[in-house]
Amino acid sequence: MLVLCAVTQNINSSAYSKCRSLRGKKMGAESEFEKRKREIEEQEQRIKTWMSKIKHKIVVLSGKGGVGKSTVTANLAVALAWKGRPNQVGILDADITGPSIPKMLGARKQVLESGPPGIFPALGPLGIKIISMDFLLPSDETPVIWRGPLKSAAIRQFLADVVWGDLEYLIIDLPPGTGDEALSIMQLIQLTQGLDGVVIVTIPSEVSQLVVKKAVTFTRELKAPVLGIVENMSGFVCPYCGRRVDIFRSGGGEKISKDLGVPFLGKVPLDQRICEDADQGMPFIVRHPDSPAAKAFMEIVEKIEKTLEG
Ligand SMILES: Nc1ncnc2c1ncn2[C@@H]1O[C@H](COP(=O)(O)OP(=O)(O)OP(=O)(O)O)[C@@H](O)[C@H]1O
Ligand SMILES: [Mg+2]
Repeated sequence: MLVLCAVTQNINSSAYSKCRSLRGKKMGAESEFEKRKREIEEQEQRIKTWMSKIKHKIVVLSGKGGVGKSTVTANLAVALAWKGRPNQVGILDADITGPSIPKMLGARKQVLESGPPGIFPALGPLGIKIISMDFLLPSDETPVIWRGPLKSAAIRQFLADVVWGDLEYLIIDLPPGTGDEALSIMQLIQLTQGLDGVVIVTIPSEVSQLVVKKAVTFTRELKAPVLGIVENMSGFVCPYCGRRVDIFRSGGGEKISKDLGVPFLGKVPLDQRICEDADQGMPFIVRHPDSPAAKAFMEIVEKIEKTLEG
């Protein structure tokens, strides 16, 4: 539980800016305020050092819950690794209260090793490095009941104290909305001006479109580029009669992309096997490379590669 202890210690550190009352308290030569300020500066220095070793950092965001952020994160990471980057891709699961990446990639129950440089991430398929709160909880029933500052402190540690090493891509999976975790991640990675962009996931319905606008505005406010919008759960082809049904309607993602002037990355259809593979911890696109959904993920990755690598 090394990380949890360290996280707890850092709650106070993360709130140092609010601790003006500490200024006067002396602790030997250094006041408590100065000590906390120094700790935060050191932590931010470590974040800069680790992040500078990772070529591309991408955040996956959505305004709404359950639209497929974690699915898109996991499949983008697998696609990037599969296209000739084994051991060169990482996933930071920043969903502190509802981590799902280890389950989706069959990487649960690993015990994280730690050493002098920090904590070593778990390994998923194709050598994908994964860090997630899921590895730190004692049981499946244990909830994380933390307020915002504590979640932000955990995220700071995931960035500062994890031995990410040299990576081509780090994909960051966020919880729904534009709350503490999203804000912390984007601000911390922007310390190095290093965020390559944000992928916004939506489903086609108008209800979901409304919150996409908020996600785009949030991203722009933080001066991060929007890499584009993914329309997930876009239509369903019945495996029995072959008829297509637009369960959540269709085309909403493309329309909102045009309206907001951001790129459209692609449509991923509903496919029962995406859900089954995620539940079994199997990489969907490797298992079903010829499915329309796997092809859609590969095309999305190609667009992202083209934008970031030319
Ligand atoms: N295109 C799809 N076809 C079939 N099932 C899908 C598809 N996309 C996602 N799912 C399934 O829908 C469920 C929700 O997806 P996921 O967990 O990725 O959403 P999320 O946006 O990350 O949710 P949360 O907001 O809770 O983090 C999962 O069971 C996943 O397997
Ligand atoms: Mg999720």
